[in-house]
Amino acid sequence: MNNYLIELGLNQWSSPPKTDSDISVLSGLEQGKVLFLPQLKFELSPNELALLTPSIVDPKRKNISLKPLTGDINGVAESSKTEEVKQLIERFYQSTQDLIRSLLPHYQNTLHSPTASLRLHPVSQWTKNASWRKDDTRLHVDAFPSRPNHGERILRIFTNINPVGESRQWRVGEPFPSLAKRFLPTLAPYSPFKAKVMSMVGITKRYRSHYDHLMLQMHDRMKESADYQTTGEQVSVAFPSGSTWICFSDQTPHAAMSGQYMLEQTYLLPVNAMANPQHSPLNVLQQLTQKTLI
Ligand SMILES: [Fe+2]
Repeated sequence: MNNYLIELGLNQWSSPPKTDSDISVLSGLEQGKVLFLPQLKFELSPNELALLTPSIVDPKRKNISLKPLTGDINGVAESSKTEEVKQLIERFYQSTQDLIRSLLPHYQNTLHSPTASLRLHPVSQWTKNASWRKDDTRLHVDAFPSRPNHGERILRIFTNINPVGESRQWRVGEPFPSLAKRFLPTLAPYSPFKAKVMSMVGITKRYRSHYDHLMLQMHDRMKESADYQTTGEQVSVAFPSGSTWICFSDQTPHAAMSGQYMLEQTYLLPVNAMANPQHSPLNVLQQLTQKTLI
C-alpha cells in the first residue's frame, strides 16, 4: 500500500461482503486512491483467448464497446466474431456486478449507465497519431467533451488480460483538491451562451454545465503542460497481467503508459450516492470557486 493505492487480497469476483473493511476501502476510493487487486484474475477460455487480436477491432475505432443493458456493441471488424466478443464482454460486466456487491455494496443500487470495453491494441498504437488532447499517456482526469455528466462520478474497473504476462503501466497523480487548486487559476471562463449553442447544434449530447466546462479545461491544461507531465506529483504503477484495479477516473490523475489487452467497465454514480460526497470533484470545485456549478 502507498499513498496512491490500496492493495486488497480479493481473488474471487463474487464473495460475501466484508463489512469491517468497507469503510476504509470506500473512503480511500472516494479520496482518489486506486483499489488494486493483484490476485483478481479474469480467466479466459481457450475460445476467448483466440479473440485477443487487434485485427478484430474496426480500424476506425480505438476499442470494442458494449452497452450491457441494451446489448449494443460497436467496433467489431469481423461480424462473424461479434456474438463471441459480446458474450466475453457481457461475462466481464456480470463479474464486475459481482465485485461491486462484494467490495462496494454501498454503490450496488446506485451505479448506472454501464459501458464496457475490450481494448486489444497496444497503448503505443493508439498514441502514435493522437493529438495531445487525445493522448492518454499524458496525466489527466477523465472528462468527455460530448457527454456532459453534470457532476456524476465516473467509476472504472480495469482488468489486465494480457496472455503473455505483459503488465499495464500507469502513472497515477496527486489528490484532486491539490490538482484543482493548481489548475483552477489557469482555466478559461465559462460561457453559458456557448454551452447552450453547443447543445442546440448537437456538439454536446446535453447542456455542458459550468462543472463540465471546468473538468474539460482541467483535462486539457493538464495534458498540455509538459512541465506538469514531468514535474507533477506522481508515481509509476505496474498492473500485472491477471490483476484488476478500480478508481474514480474523473478524480484520480492517471496516464496509461504501456500494455496491451484489457477489459474495462465504466459506471456513473450520482454524487449523493457517495458515502462522503464532499470528496467529489463537484464539491471540491464548488468549495474552491464558491459557486454553484450545476
Ligand atoms: Fe483516462
